[in-house]
Amino acid sequence: MQSKQSLQQESHVQESNILGQFIPIHYHYNMLLDEQRMEAFRNAIQAVIRPGMRVVELGGGTGVLSFLAARCGAKVWCVERNSELVEVARKAIRSNGFESMVTVIHDDATDFIPPEPVDAVICEMLHVALLREKQAQVISAFKDNYRSRFGDRLPRFLPEASVLTFQLLEYPFLFSGYQVQVPVFQQPTPNQVGIELSELQTYGQVIYDESIPMQFGWSDKVTASQSGQLSAIRFITQNLIAIDTQKQLSYPWPNQFLILPIDEPILVEEGQEVAIDFCYRAGESLNSLSESIQVNQSARSVRRRIAA
Ligand SMILES: C[S@@+](CC[C@H](N)C(=O)[O-])C[C@H]1O[C@@H](n2cnc3c(N)ncnc32)[C@H](O)[C@@H]1O
Repeated sequence: MQSKQSLQQESHVQESNILGQFIPIHYHYNMLLDEQRMEAFRNAIQAVIRPGMRVVELGGGTGVLSFLAARCGAKVWCVERNSELVEVARKAIRSNGFESMVTVIHDDATDFIPPEPVDAVICEMLHVALLREKQAQVISAFKDNYRSRFGDRLPRFLPEASVLTFQLLEYPFLFSGYQVQVPVFQQPTPNQVGIELSELQTYGQVIYDESIPMQFGWSDKVTASQSGQLSAIRFITQNLIAIDTQKQLSYPWPNQFLILPIDEPILVEEGQEVAIDFCYRAGESLNSLSESIQVNQSARSVRRRIAA
């Protein structure tokens, strides 16, 4: 029989292999090329990090955000779990001439405690709806470990906040004439495919230096803002990488939009209320959210439709 410890180790290894937490090196190319993402982090880091600051990066990947912090004059501990990326980051930090400023550490960010108190923590494990990647768990664990070593005064977190929203959508799910209900990702820019059938509804807000919720959901009515066939829910997550209260400025970065089909599309009329339910845990799979979605027309609306 396997010991409890080896079972725990095995499930830990399996979990770190799940796509989303395991991000292969060739995906990092896309992240490096994503100018909207890079610009938000570059500007936020430049606004917050000052010479002489001490910074931790959790989930450093290729080391690019650690490099940006070091370029502002910070001493950085860059923590990465994937050994291949650790090698890539060490080599790149060296070849960019920042090895005296950035130490790349091969460790699990949920266990890591810096050798001294730090001013800021950068963590980009952000996925739409806070699914798939363990941003919430990693920052929570870091805060617990940090407090137990250094007391209650926490560093500043970048991102500072994430706002989770959704809206009702008519989406064709038609690809080369073939209709199939699959999850769809969209660039976070206006005028994407789909007819918006409701305003954005906010169902969660995470402030990273406060207590971080691990469970998100919605169980309420949503009013259709126009008539159409309700066939999907679009999830939109906006991250505020840094908030400058003095200048009244923020550095936002929206994740890609996620469109999840609903099992049985329904016709809705403008002004009609639709009962929407869903519930999931931070860091879980897309399926865990999509399987929880329930859509019901309210009794009042159905009666009106039958009478018509
Ligand atoms: C979305 S990538 C971001 C990489 C890099 N910070 C950037 O912005 O380009 C998230 C990174 O976190 C790493 N990661 C995920 N979970 C981790 C953990 N528990 N401990 C350390 N690294 C982790 C992944 O291997 C991946 O490199």
